[in-house]
Amino acid sequence: MGIDLSTLLVDKKTVNSLSNNFEIILGDSLENLERFDSEQFQMCVTSPPYWGLRDYGINGQVGAEFDIQDYIKNLVLIFREVKRVLKTDGTLWLNIGDSYTSGGRTWRDADKKNIARAMSYRPPTPQGLKPKDLIGVPWKIAFALQNDGWYLRSDIIWHKPNCQPESVKDRPTQSHEYIFLLSKQENYYYDCEAIKEKSTDGLGSRNKRTVWSVNTEPYKEAHFAVFPTKLIAPCILAGSKENSWILDPFLGSGTVGEVSLKLNRKFVGIELNPEYAKIAQNRILPLVNNFTF
Ligand SMILES: C[S@@+](CC[C@H](N)C(=O)[O-])C[C@H]1O[C@@H](n2cnc3c(N)ncnc32)[C@H](O)[C@@H]1O
Repeated sequence: MGIDLSTLLVDKKTVNSLSNNFEIILGDSLENLERFDSEQFQMCVTSPPYWGLRDYGINGQVGAEFDIQDYIKNLVLIFREVKRVLKTDGTLWLNIGDSYTSGGRTWRDADKKNIARAMSYRPPTPQGLKPKDLIGVPWKIAFALQNDGWYLRSDIIWHKPNCQPESVKDRPTQSHEYIFLLSKQENYYYDCEAIKEKSTDGLGSRNKRTVWSVNTEPYKEAHFAVFPTKLIAPCILAGSKENSWILDPFLGSGTVGEVSLKLNRKFVGIELNPEYAKIAQNRILPLVNNFTF
């Protein structure tokens, strides 16, 4: 990888001490966030693993907790650290999808198109829910973060026109996920002009609405849910100015890194799985002229 973690162990780090305009850190997000000084980043945009749906094949992964309460607790702790390292007028843009209770199944077979969908277990139905219940994971997380002091400012529906078909016959096919916009304080940096959309008559512009229709985009080599670049660009444009530092503590294939650099921002990404961190590194290095390793 491009970074020697031992240099991080000595003192708390400021983003200005980084030698590049980006950094990919291989390791656990909570541990590595703790190594940063407070109020370093303008915004964080990220998608943590879903609960009980994907197996990223590595110890310490978030999302593989047996009990949903432990999953939510872990995310609250990670995002508490994110809050600490965000500037006071900073924002968190958090993408998360929902899932259903397992209905008694204890494992799920591999999906040929998506290897990370194989699970060696299915977590048991959370207390108070029934088999086949929609869990409401995104809102459980949103309320937990709100209780932890975050301001919950908006729920954005990511509508996926090209969503995966489902073989269900007793409910509509799920074609959306959430992006929550959260802030540290009542007033925060948000550039509504940067993301205005066309008005319905097509003649003028209007404040961006809360339903964003964006096709999913596979990324070569990455067998897990990656962000479409078009989903991330408006978050970064509204949440930061050029040269701001952007954070993604669940970097995956590095989409946030790519979009940040293309929009002239700087970024730090943290990823636990070395294979994925490598994918991110290979994706990002060609965009950077000025790097040293
Ligand atoms: C939904 S994927 C992120 C995909 C990313 N948004 C993209 O566009 O490629 C979640 C990522 O979190 C990583 N992850 C899981 N637990 C982690 C942890 N404790 N610390 C850091 N990364 C973790 C997984 O390996 C996976 O790559």
